[in-house]
Amino acid sequence: MPLDNAAKYARRFYSETYAKWYSNQDSSALSDPNWSYYAAAIRALFSHTCRRPSVLDLGCGTGRYFQAVPAHSDLTAIDISENMLKHAEQALVECGRSPAGIQCADFRQVNFPPGTFDLIYSVGVLAEYSPLDSALLNKLYVWLKPRGKLLFTALDAQSRPLSLTKKAASLALPFMPARLRGRLYPSIGVHRFYMSEARLLRLFAGTPFAQKAVSRHASESRSWQGAHFVCIGSKSGE
Ligand SMILES: C[S@@+](CC[C@H](N)C(=O)[O-])C[C@H]1O[C@@H](n2cnc3c(N)ncnc32)[C@H](O)[C@@H]1O
Repeated sequence: MPLDNAAKYARRFYSETYAKWYSNQDSSALSDPNWSYYAAAIRALFSHTCRRPSVLDLGCGTGRYFQAVPAHSDLTAIDISENMLKHAEQALVECGRSPAGIQCADFRQVNFPPGTFDLIYSVGVLAEYSPLDSALLNKLYVWLKPRGKLLFTALDAQSRPLSLTKKAASLALPFMPARLRGRLYPSIGVHRFYMSEARLLRLFAGTPFAQKAVSRHASESRSWQGAHFVCIGSKSGE
């Protein structure tokens, strides 16, 4: 199946140079309060899981959150960027895991059998570099086992407002010459994936998760200003 524009963009955006830069930030990111916040949220998901939970990292990037996953889990990680995955493979090996669990794929197109995972998490991906919609959330629901949990972040649009000029430019983006579009897209194009709280709550409410919790986390990092909604969906025991 051909990649949609968002997936093509994500693959292009995470180029070899960018992936190298991103991975160079990994060691300092691990001492960043944002990392600790999301790592703790991921670890908390494991409190009621079975002995050997199967876990999916959706949009794993360079594998920044692999260390938050207990060693006794079966970890699968998906990302669309081969460049990011090269670093993720190394991160997996450093955690003493097999790189066999890594897949280079568009998670919107890939399919796992129903009930494959105990836990799925996705940090800094949905409603940011990839659109968040009910089709994807319903698919993730199906991939979970009964009593499985999904944790995902969604970028709060209000925390990263566009100036009027950028707003106008974002509307004109699809009509611009490719080179200009490529230059402007990273700063303004993905803005359309960001979520308002109302839209996120509506979207999440429409999914079959038995329990849903949404909180908001503002970045405490100097290098990135903004906030994410942190969403946790729990599947019933069926
Ligand atoms: C900001 S990075 C976050 C990586 C990692 N979760 C972290 O927190 O460090 C976003 C990642 O999402 C991946 N991505 C975006 N859209 C994707 C898609 N449709 N399928 C798979 N991966 C995708 C990108 O390639 C990129 O590595």
